[in-house]
Amino acid sequence: MQKKKITLITSALPYANGPIHIGHLVEYIQTDIFVRFLKLTGKNAVYCCADDTHGAPIEINAQKQGTTPEKFIKRWYREHTKDFSDYNINFDSYYSTHSPENKYYTELIFNRLKKKDFIYKKDMELTYCKNCKRFLPDRYVKGKCPKCSAEDQYGDVCEKCNATYSPVDLIEPYCSVCKNPPVRKVSSHYFFKLSAFSEKLEKWLKTNKRLQPEIRNQILNWIKEGLQDWCISRDKPYFGFKIPGETDKYFYVWLDAPIGYIASTANYCRGRKCKADNIWQTNEHEIIHFIGKDIIYFHLLFWPAVLMAADFKVPDNLVVHGFLTVNGEKMSKSRGTFLTAKEFLDYVDPKFLRYYYASSLTHTMTDIDLDLKNLQEKVNNELVANIANFIYRVLSFLNKNFNGKITKIHNKHLIKDILEKCGIAKNEFENYNFREAVKIILEISSLGNKYFQDSEPWVLRKTDAEKTQAVLTDCVNIVKTLAIMLKPVIPDFSEKIEKQLNLKDLSWADLNKILENHKIGKSEIILRKIEEIKLKAPAEKAVREKDDDFSKLNLKVAEIYDVSEHLKADKLYIINIKIGKEKRQLVAGLRPYYKKEDLKGKKIVVVTNLKHADFRGKKSEGMLLAAKENNKIGLLTAPASKHGDRVFIKGIRPGNEVIDFKEFSKIRIKVKLGRVVYKDRILRTEKEEITAERVKQGIVL
Ligand code: 2FM
Ligand code: ZN
Repeated sequence: MQKKKITLITSALPYANGPIHIGHLVEYIQTDIFVRFLKLTGKNAVYCCADDTHGAPIEINAQKQGTTPEKFIKRWYREHTKDFSDYNINFDSYYSTHSPENKYYTELIFNRLKKKDFIYKKDMELTYCKNCKRFLPDRYVKGKCPKCSAEDQYGDVCEKCNATYSPVDLIEPYCSVCKNPPVRKVSSHYFFKLSAFSEKLEKWLKTNKRLQPEIRNQILNWIKEGLQDWCISRDKPYFGFKIPGETDKYFYVWLDAPIGYIASTANYCRGRKCKADNIWQTNEHEIIHFIGKDIIYFHLLFWPAVLMAADFKVPDNLVVHGFLTVNGEKMSKSRGTFLTAKEFLDYVDPKFLRYYYASSLTHTMTDIDLDLKNLQEKVNNELVANIANFIYRVLSFLNKNFNGKITKIHNKHLIKDILEKCGIAKNEFENYNFREAVKIILEISSLGNKYFQDSEPWVLRKTDAEKTQAVLTDCVNIVKTLAIMLKPVIPDFSEKIEKQLNLKDLSWADLNKILENHKIGKSEIILRKIEEIKLKAPAEKAVREKDDDFSKLNLKVAEIYDVSEHLKADKLYIINIKIGKEKRQLVAGLRPYYKKEDLKGKKIVVVTNLKHADFRGKKSEGMLLAAKENNKIGLLTAPASKHGDRVFIKGIRPGNEVIDFKEFSKIRIKVKLGRVVYKDRILRTEKEEITAERVKQGIVL
């Protein structure tokens, strides 16, 4: 059996639906520092996390990109794990909510809830898009705000006037995927009796002394206002786990996401002497969640209530942080301050971000500001001029004058004072007050600098070599202290100092062990000052592209596999096409120009993101492109390409948003000397230029 109590620590699971950005990194860096600190002090800390892989947006985005949700989430998994490793974030298990363990625990918990009568079914009237054949989540219904009439607002909140409402209240609502107006439709859903847990939750919040008071009060207020039961199911199409016994209903992503913490624990325990069941269903161990203030409702109400209801253990603590602002403002794409973890690597070494976040983080929900000027100053004045410089001065002086050898310490008082400071810093780390811990580390380094300077070893050594060596022994001990204390924050920096000290794997306990009669290793400058950080203007090219209407289009090669006449219109064909794995139907007025047999097998160019239209009762899911010269009409084709291949202009990225015909008709594609061009730039696939049949000089419709 496991000998030592485990402290299981988690960060919120990022959605497998986009990149990790510098806002996310606040939490992962915060948690990683805490875990590293606990491990350094000899605790059995285990850091578990995973990608949050389910939900409608992931299903929709995968489809938009012409791929399956499984492939889509795999791609994000690779990117996320790479980003985390770049920032030295060291999980003991980084797993996925789309895993057998997560399915197992989700079903186990659901079945227990059902058995104990905490689940019931109820009919609900919801927003439904007949064209997309899906119920629309609030974020996928748009329309005019019922309060201020601002256009294109989401179904839950107006970004102009901040009014909140439900999707039914929107004026002229439309489905944000296909732009058609939705209808109301009834569906039956599963509810969890959250209201039955008000008292238990209240008791838990009041007796748990570790929670931040502002959080506790906030949640207690919500309980006082009365808790609503929680809908935990979603209709198909959805990417997630099917509800047992249902054919087209899935567990809501927010039910199985936190259960992912348990699944990731199980993944960690595989092949080790621990058990997820033991960690999550007994009180032998400790569980701490790190989260952002935007998801406290889920983590301090739904999650503990579900755990209580299913006879699992509730978390021992939740550490809630605020949001990140950049240069005092919300991160923004147009200001160029919405930076992904990967993009930020272009500006500074990741350890500087770790250091900066550490020196800003406290145990409160206060937002933290990434002020780039301040980051530069902190790195240059604190890390480089104070800490790294002290270390280099001491070690290089020792190497140069005493062949790297230290003897006995000289100033016991100083060493004792510093040890006391370490004790205070430990307390600050334990209480998630990294800002204060960093301040103490800087104080220690300043003391070291002052001591070195005041002792003037370069003068002293001429008269009293022995004392000089003893003073340097004191200084080396301070260097060792700094290396240990900085380990949680900037582990790679500490590792380099360890090496220069000719030591290995220092732990918190080594703070108490005075280093004497030792020979250090080679000394080198580890850090240098950094330049001012100038963010790139949001890539000028990208802006121009965005403004360029062509970038709204998403064009692909399609292959015609079937053609039939439209029975209610004598000029129209119904054309069935394949685009990669997808099949679609188009309606096109080609009957006067092409015979059915001539169309079959042709590889044509299709606008894939055009709002679907209805032609006399037949649906057209896109539009094929043809060129016109006088009364000749010829299709645009790509005979050597495969259906599904992109059709593009070099340097212009394709659009993903749905466009309507009016927008499309503003984009003037032409045929010039037999070549298909837009503003004189050639349309092509990876394999060939697009050709226009029959037309040498004309316009594309
Ligand atoms: O808000 C989010 O980004 C969610 N993906 C967090 C999930 S945390 C946990 F519950 F899984
Ligand atoms: Zn739709």
